[in-house]
Amino acid sequence: IEAAMNNGPLKGRHILVTSGPTHEPIDPVRYIANRSSGAQGSAIARALLGLGARVTFVTGPADVAAPIGVDLVEVQTAAQMLDAVQAVQNVDVGIFAAAVADWRIANASAQKIKKDGKGLPVLEFSENSDILAIVSASKTRPTLVVGFAAETQNVIENATAKRKRKGCDWIVANDVSPSTGIMGGSENDVVLITADGSEDWPPMGKDQVAQRLALKIAEALG
Ligand code: CTP
Ligand code: CA
Repeated sequence: IEAAMNNGPLKGRHILVTSGPTHEPIDPVRYIANRSSGAQGSAIARALLGLGARVTFVTGPADVAAPIGVDLVEVQTAAQMLDAVQAVQNVDVGIFAAAVADWRIANASAQKIKKDGKGLPVLEFSENSDILAIVSASKTRPTLVVGFAAETQNVIENATAKRKRKGCDWIVANDVSPSTGIMGGSENDVVLITADGSEDWPPMGKDQVAQRLALKIAEALG
């Protein structure tokens, strides 16, 4: 395995992958989060390792284990994920597969909130920084920046607008509308959005999506 990896088309490349959800605390025992098993991010990291890349894997609290062989950085919140991403140096490709919580609780409590009969707690939100947009605009931007978009409608239109807004090179758009049964499953229905337009991939397993994306990245880097 070691020998095969040393000869892969991504040998010598350093790739950053974000994965999983982030957890934003309400109090020490409660949080808000997006749905994400971390399966697609882990599969991508595994595929990249298989092609010989060095992979730094920044992950929130995922259901699936991180692949063996990555440089693992574990975080809880979006703010921690941003710090962890910004601490990584010399990145050739950034892949942002994490389902980052868009908001955190501004009035999170240091102590457990109790049902004390004084009424319901009122949560105040503030918006989290957009990690993908910040990296895309940074002076030390990776050569290739790949974002994800989970959409429930107008997939191509929304993801094309998202690619422009975020300043990334590619968007891997997922149709997660309930009728597809994709959310939480093992398959993915992907459209790849680039500057050249869109490429509709047939529904396939998350491992196959990862393999195809890894090969496409190797091809793009030449
Ligand atoms: N992302 C990020 N940091 C955030 C929010 C999102 O890095 N604070 C990244 C995700 O990892 C993903 C991409 O941005 O690669 C798109 O995430 P998505 O939630 O689809 O986009 P948003 O801009 O948050 O738009 P919305 O949730 O309103 O559709
Ligand atoms: Ca979002």
